[in-house]
Amino acid sequence: MEKIAVAAINHKGGVGKTTLSLIMTQMALLKRSKVLAIDLDPQRNFTDALSFIADYFKDSLRFKSSLEPGDAECEEDWIILDCPPVLGDITREALDFADIAIVPVRPDFFSLSNLGVLYSFAGEVGKDRCQLPVVKVGYDTSRLARMVEQVLVEKQYPVAGRVPLNRLIPYNITLGRIWSTGLTADARRPFDQMYSRITSAYRRMLDGDFTSPWRD
Ligand SMILES: Nc1ncnc2c1ncn2[C@@H]1O[C@H](COP(=O)(O)OP(=O)(O)OP(=O)(O)O)[C@@H](O)[C@H]1O
Ligand SMILES: [Mg+2]
Repeated sequence: MEKIAVAAINHKGGVGKTTLSLIMTQMALLKRSKVLAIDLDPQRNFTDALSFIADYFKDSLRFKSSLEPGDAECEEDWIILDCPPVLGDITREALDFADIAIVPVRPDFFSLSNLGVLYSFAGEVGKDRCQLPVVKVGYDTSRLARMVEQVLVEKQYPVAGRVPLNRLIPYNITLGRIWSTGLTADARRPFDQMYSRITSAYRRMLDGDFTSPWRD
């Protein structure tokens, strides 16, 4: 596959951008890709978490805290950008640079009301809606979660996957372990599925399919 740049974006805070950036980084590394991880958030959570796994992946992981000219030509196959929770210049640059920007959305109405603003912002940068798939984070069978899901369907937001709330992820990362190897195959499945959906949707986009790249 050609080089791919994926950003995690949402101006709503605390929805899982950094966690998804970490998951995508680790998925790509475990599949033997080289990754350039870029932490654009001054909170530096992504950098701190990556530093736990840096030794283990020293030949395949590089990380830094800004986008620079020439990054598009870097030697890595994956570029993963974690954005701050704000729609400012930094996020605009990341959106402009990224092939796909995943948008974590929690099952609550404040998350939903923000989405329209985010998609308009991305439209101004020239991104197609299909380049901004939602990742549903922590959806359960509650009435609220089902109502939010229904709105996502009605508004035809593309969906790259759904990930459960999983206390093993932050736990494993703070222990400096590789979460994927510490998770059972069942627990890992949603993240594998998200990764596969993103890579196959990207292949379809490269083939010029911008109408339904997220179909199963
Ligand atoms: N799938 C998940 N399972 C369990 N905990 C999660 C999951 N996703 C996120 N969290 C937890 O939720 C909190 C917020 O996640 P995270 O830091 O990834 O959000 P964020 O969108 O990057 O926040 P910010 O806007 O501050 O950058 C963290 O404590 C994180 O460990
Ligand atoms: Mg973050």
